[in-house]
Amino acid sequence: MRDRNDEDKKNRSVVKKVFKILEGIMLKKILLSVAIIFCFVSSSIAADLSPIKLFPPDMKGGKSLMQSLQERKTSRSFNTKKLPIEVLSNLLWSACGINRPDSGKRTAPSASNRQEIDVYVAMEEGLYFYNAKAHVLEPVLKNDLRKNTTTFPQPSRSSVEGAPLQLIYVADYSKMSVYTNDEEKKFYSAADTGFIAQNVYLYCSSEGLVTGVRGLVDRDALSKNMKLRDRQKIVLVQAVGYPE
Ligand SMILES: Cc1cc2nc3c(=O)[nH]c(=O)nc-3n(C[C@H](O)[C@H](O)[C@H](O)COP(=O)(O)O)c2cc1C
Repeated sequence: MRDRNDEDKKNRSVVKKVFKILEGIMLKKILLSVAIIFCFVSSSIAADLSPIKLFPPDMKGGKSLMQSLQERKTSRSFNTKKLPIEVLSNLLWSACGINRPDSGKRTAPSASNRQEIDVYVAMEEGLYFYNAKAHVLEPVLKNDLRKNTTTFPQPSRSSVEGAPLQLIYVADYSKMSVYTNDEEKKFYSAADTGFIAQNVYLYCSSEGLVTGVRGLVDRDALSKNMKLRDRQKIVLVQAVGYPE
């Protein structure tokens, strides 16, 4: 009788173990399915957005350089009106477009010609990447990330949020292997960003647009929202729009 009880107990514990193993397998399968669905959904987010083919730069427009310098200033007050494609095209080319196709060099200088600063453009319809070589805005995410650039309290935050465009300057450290440590990479990428941001300031004053660069940005949160890689570092953000 005792032997039988022992055997029953043994059988029950074997059945329990089998159930536990099955439970584990089911859980893994469910988690795997969820991960596959998540990957599929996130990779198809940008698929709904089309690339924006930009116009060649218009070299004739705008005020003189001296006049543009005289009017250059930081603005923190923006109209919500969107920028026409022609204006967006000229703005991005002025920022860091290719001005010497033979060498692929740009309107802004870059240390050791690393060209490590990528310009991301956050608009209502989504986040885009400026491909200077093709002069095209490539879709990255369908989300409107403009608000995610203004999460740190600062002057006139609410009006800055209304700007139709936030340029996000991202340094790609993987293009900077010429420098031995991150301190050098940080220094040169910050300097290179400054030239691009100033080009944008001057284009804006030349065209009657307003702009303001910002260093007060929650870089960790914004990097996550933008799904940046580890070696991509947000340097500055710059709002662009029409005066209020
Ligand atoms: C690297 C850098 C970071 C800045 N960060 C901010 C910022 O986070 N918020 C802001 O409102 N202005 C920011 N500014 C704008 C400055 O406050 C502004 O340039 C300064 O007040 C001088 O005004 P001006 O550009 O009209 O000459 C920044 C400027 C630079 C160059």
